[in-house]
Amino acid sequence: MIVAIDGPVGVGKSSIAREIARQARLYYLNSGNFYRAITLKHLLSKGDFSNRDECLSTARNARIDIVDGVFKLDGHAVSESELHNSDIDMNASQISSIPEVRQIVNERMKEISKGLDIIAEGRDISTVVFPDADFKFYLDAEPEIRARRRFQQKLDNQTYEEVLSALKQRDLNDMNKSVGALKIAPNAIIIDTSYLTIKEVCEKVLNALKRQ
Ligand code: DC
Repeated sequence: MIVAIDGPVGVGKSSIAREIARQARLYYLNSGNFYRAITLKHLLSKGDFSNRDECLSTARNARIDIVDGVFKLDGHAVSESELHNSDIDMNASQISSIPEVRQIVNERMKEISKGLDIIAEGRDISTVVFPDADFKFYLDAEPEIRARRRFQQKLDNQTYEEVLSALKQRDLNDMNKSVGALKIAPNAIIIDTSYLTIKEVCEKVLNALKRQ
């Protein structure tokens, strides 16, 4: 079984997908972390983000694995905090707009999930990566609410206004990619999470999975 969840930054995809994975015993794939890991590798090697070939070479050489639920880059476990800061946020947005990088990430995700029941989340999971997914969800929420959630996570020292402005910029990047742009799949179940708790969204998703 494949459950696909797409939606913009800060909508709660990761918390929700992780919880659904736990309750429904599905293998959890966070596609954003693949782009973040390639970005981290490029940052560590002091690569130039405006140089497409350099970015592509980093993506080709990045070995991404998930071993017993632990996300690994080149054999080393990478923590959520290493993958989440404003530097990685902005540069991951740029690196993920390169179609060949997307192809590398998509192929690796398909390899990892072969033969497994999975829940995968990102921007193009239900449209490009797993267009035949058994279930497709599109989560949405107002930008101000998503920015408030991100701000409250205190991932770095940004003010609320800075978080909101960066989030709007990332929304624009995500929606205007030439390949893999954030879109609502025609048969997706749309959930507006603006005024719902994580638990309430999970209930909606789990109910939809049970109805089949
Ligand atoms: O979901 P996230 O914020 O962790 O994603 C990190 C970056 O990767 C973000 O700029 C969007 C991009 N991304 C993408 O282009 N396609 C995906 N399927 C997942 C993430």
